[in-house]
Amino acid sequence: MSKVENAQRYVGAPQPAPVKKDGPFFVMFWRSAVGKKWIMAVTGIMLIGFVFAHMLGNLKIFLSPSALDHYAEWLRTIGYPILPKTGVLWLMRLGLLSAVVLHIWAAASLTRMNRAARPTGYKSPREYVAADFAARTMRWTGIILTLFIVFHLLDLTWGQTGTTFDKDEVYNNIVNSFQRVPVAIAYIVANIAIAIHLYHGAWSMFQSLGINSPRFNPWRRGFAIGVASIIAVGNISIPLLVVTGVVK
Ligand code: HEM
Repeated sequence: MSKVENAQRYVGAPQPAPVKKDGPFFVMFWRSAVGKKWIMAVTGIMLIGFVFAHMLGNLKIFLSPSALDHYAEWLRTIGYPILPKTGVLWLMRLGLLSAVVLHIWAAASLTRMNRAARPTGYKSPREYVAADFAARTMRWTGIILTLFIVFHLLDLTWGQTGTTFDKDEVYNNIVNSFQRVPVAIAYIVANIAIAIHLYHGAWSMFQSLGINSPRFNPWRRGFAIGVASIIAVGNISIPLLVVTGVVK
């Protein structure tokens, strides 16, 4: 197709809304694709940090029931009695929730911006030159991750999935839940999807922050593989060892 024909294909196609080109720096940054990528990267770092710390805490299940239960109790009482009993925990929850909302919002806005910049869509089958499997499936692994969090909160925070539940007995709650084979399988599958999402996130956040010299690529790749594999192995080991009866 000639350049002229190609240009003619766009005549009459819906045009992207014009971007306002003035305003304070922060507002301009917020509206721009670069600003949204920064928001994705910074909130992504916060979320990876949470998932990593959460995994380390959960691995106390392999020490003893009381080690895990004491750890959960400590999380609820950080800063007490200087601060209210669950004050720090609620601050962390608020930070986490804001990061999740901003991360999803930035992802959706960037997708809209990309679509608006290319109104005719991609050829089918779409040609993926450099994008690997993890990059192409970010939206799907992100949706699995979000659904997982909803189920996970119902299951182990609120005890609403039909097992015996006591909020002070975290060890028993986990064992009761993961002894159900379909639940253990769902946790394992979801954590594989989460690891794939984290792998691409940990790789591309450097690009978003402008650290994309080819010199760093082997280091970035190693970092992304390392983070995703450690989190995958740590998280999957728990449902796997409970459902196989090693942890009772
Ligand atoms: C097999 C792996 C996992 C286990 C065994 C596990 C275990 C738990 C438990 C026991 C709680 C409740 C803690 C309490 O109320 O004291 C909890 C809460 C939570 N988990 Fe997980 N978790 C796992 C993986 C994940 C992953 C991969 C994510 C995120 C991607 C996640 C996100 C959360 C969140 C957001 C909460 C609520 C924290 C709060 O507000 O108190 N978990 N998890």
